[in-house]
Amino acid sequence: MTLRVAVIGAGPSGLAQLRAFQSAAAKGAEIPEVVCFEKQSDWGGLWNYTWRTGLDEYGEPVHCSMYRYLWSNGPKECLEFADYTFEEHFGKPIASYPPRAVLWDYIKGRVEKAGVRDWIRFSTPVRMVTYSNDTEKFTVTAQDLANNTMTSEDFDNVVVSSGHFSTAHVPYFPGLEGFNGRVLHSHDFRDALEFKGKDILIIGRSYSAEDIGSQCYKYGAKSITISYRSAPTGFNWPDNWQEVPLLEKVENKTCTFKDGTKKDFDAIIQCTGYLHHFPFLPDDLRLTTTNRMWTPGLYQGVVWESNPKLMYLGMQDQFYTFNMFDAQAWYARDAIMGRIALPSKAEMDADSQAWLAREAKLESAEDMIYFQGDYVQKLIDQTDYPSFDVDGVNKTFMAWEHHKMDDIMGFRNNGYRSLMTGTMAPAHHTPWLDAMDDSLESYLQTK
Ligand SMILES: Cc1cc2nc3c(=O)[nH]c(=O)nc-3n(C[C@H](O)[C@H](O)[C@H](O)COP(=O)(O)OP(=O)(O)OC[C@H]3O[C@@H](n4cnc5c(N)ncnc54)[C@H](O)[C@@H]3O)c2cc1C
Ligand SMILES: NC(=O)c1ccc[n+]([C@@H]2O[C@H](COP(=O)([O-])OP(=O)(O)OC[C@H]3O[C@@H](n4cnc5c(N)ncnc54)[C@H](OP(=O)(O)O)[C@@H]3O)[C@@H](O)[C@H]2O)c1
Repeated sequence: MTLRVAVIGAGPSGLAQLRAFQSAAAKGAEIPEVVCFEKQSDWGGLWNYTWRTGLDEYGEPVHCSMYRYLWSNGPKECLEFADYTFEEHFGKPIASYPPRAVLWDYIKGRVEKAGVRDWIRFSTPVRMVTYSNDTEKFTVTAQDLANNTMTSEDFDNVVVSSGHFSTAHVPYFPGLEGFNGRVLHSHDFRDALEFKGKDILIIGRSYSAEDIGSQCYKYGAKSITISYRSAPTGFNWPDNWQEVPLLEKVENKTCTFKDGTKKDFDAIIQCTGYLHHFPFLPDDLRLTTTNRMWTPGLYQGVVWESNPKLMYLGMQDQFYTFNMFDAQAWYARDAIMGRIALPSKAEMDADSQAWLAREAKLESAEDMIYFQGDYVQKLIDQTDYPSFDVDGVNKTFMAWEHHKMDDIMGFRNNGYRSLMTGTMAPAHHTPWLDAMDDSLESYLQTK
């Protein structure tokens, strides 16, 4: 009997899973029947942009957390697929920090070439997954939104690749309900032009905070204030920026911070992160974690230790992205197909404990990058995913970090060498701060 595998989500992680199975088939292997459920009407996950916020046309929570004018916040050379390079896709070398539309095009190119689109049921969110000890199968219940029908089917394995940057984490601050302006979470941020000429308060000090602040600056905000909980970002921000301790209270337009300083604002943007949210999973199958480098309960960061027929992809905090999802998907594929023998639960747990102990000692972003690089290396050593220079990727991340420290508004003007092809990226025709057009056509133009 052919195995049946359900993949939940057709973002970069789920698409990596489809490509992993298809590549095994292309080499002559007999592969399981793969059914991918995707709640949106197209593939690409977060990279599939929508203007919508809140609920979509079916009343579903909008998945997209991306915004207009979003450019990659890390070098493309760090996320490049080892089996499908940027040069192969675009037919020429391109600059290192592509806007969203360019990366979406690249993600789509690989799976279009693989011919796996008809494995996906679009506009079909998974509502519930259960596991039967008697049949040793999962029952996956999903809703076809276009036809408004609910179906349940059995599968031997389930791969959860539904992402974890879409359910907003929104803390409360005293007086927010009386603020005389707009309060939003980064999940609902779409167009920086909305904040032109405004005084903006950003809460949080991580990637959304720095990038949304930078967008607002680029498109003409009057001032940007970052309110941090743990520590200032430390970047050398332009003159109309400041960093202040955590927000304490809000009165009309006036915000008071923990150091007693006050300022009036037109808008408050909470860049306070996201929740891992799996409303379709019962307690015994559901990963519970914060956004961290090692997710407890997942052997090799992938296999649900309490039921190894269940896999999770892309659940860690991410420096590495697309090629890490690939490494995970190839590993999940081989575990499902019996090419990798999984050890006992006790051995899986011992292995995870060692990673957790190492995670506890990580102090800096640099430590985290090397940690994640070691993890990716460990995975790719176990499968036929094309080997690549992980240490070279680590070093590119180090250069990226230094470029950000040197010039937070100019770091995207740098170029890096591909670790897959050896080609040096050309400079983009326009410095990021002056490049207002984020279209694919504009980015691909040469000087
Ligand atoms: C604002 C923002 C900017 C980012 N920028 C970058 C960047 O520049 N570079 C980078 O490398 N990474 C970036 N990331 C990180 C991002 O997490 C990854 O690039 C990537 O999108 C993760 O892929 P994924 O498939 O794991 O999750 P997602 O991209 O979130 O895809 C998950 C998919 O699952 C579907 N889904 C969810 N629930 C269900 C359900 N119940 N049933 C069926 N389908 C479901 C969703 O519709 C979606 O298509 C960014 C993240 C955010 C939030
Ligand atoms: N392409 C791009 O340009 C781009 C843009 C945006 C986001 N992203 C990606 O999106 C992902 C998510 O990034 P993110 O910044 O949204 O989330 P994140 O990295 O998880 O950071 C969450 C931030 O929220 C803060 N926070 C949480 N609870 C808080 C509270 N109660 N009060 C004050 N602050 C609080 C945290 O503060 P502490 O630091 O004090 O814990 C942290 O700074 C990342 O993978 C990132 O790379 C990419």
